[in-house]
Amino acid sequence: MLNVALPKGRLGDKVYRLFKAAGYDCAAMEQDDRRLVLTDEKGEMSYLLVKPSDVAIYVEHGAADVGVVGKDVLLEGGSDVYELLDLGFGKCRMAEAAPVGFREDRQRPLRVATKYPAIARRFYAAQSREIEIIKLNGSIELAPLLGLSDVIVDIVETGTTLRQNNLEVTREILPISARFIANKAAMKFKEPAISQLLSRIRTQLSQKEERP
Ligand code: PRP
Repeated sequence: MLNVALPKGRLGDKVYRLFKAAGYDCAAMEQDDRRLVLTDEKGEMSYLLVKPSDVAIYVEHGAADVGVVGKDVLLEGGSDVYELLDLGFGKCRMAEAAPVGFREDRQRPLRVATKYPAIARRFYAAQSREIEIIKLNGSIELAPLLGLSDVIVDIVETGTTLRQNNLEVTREILPISARFIANKAAMKFKEPAISQLLSRIRTQLSQKEERP
């Protein structure tokens, strides 16, 4: 049996549809209930529904053998796992954004509000730009509007949140997409099952690309 950590929410729904198409369906996943561990009838897969930012933690510690997680979460958490495949969906980008017309004062540290302090620190360190981090947990776009920060470092998907709050991208940081990850020990002990899952997923993804 493979234990699979799936992020609860939109990304997880998409991943489950991919797994189902690859032959790993699980009737319990299609019922609307509050269970967090769902096992298929063949006893092949156990799906664990976890908070997106916790997927890599479950996989790193072996509570799950494999999982799917955004590259943003993976980089921020620095988890010690194998990243085996870029699934090519869940695409967005990590960017710096500021109020439209913002002029940066390079004489003083830049105040950066973000949910991603590790990614932000690495990015600005590489540019030798001194910063002050203001760690928030959501609604990051509010911070520069209220003068809590100069800029934000956050995920931009459609750009709607920025536009509607009169902010604009000022620096591109990284492209993001969903990644298939595996626990290092599981790669030794459950290698056949993981390789089979991976190869079926690859087949599904390539079929999708071929479709018009
Ligand atoms: C994310 C992100 C942005 C928004 C970007 O927030 O932090 O706020 O989505 O998407 P867009 O470019 O399509 O508008 P989320 O919805 O996860 O909520 P949060 O603000 O509580 O983090």
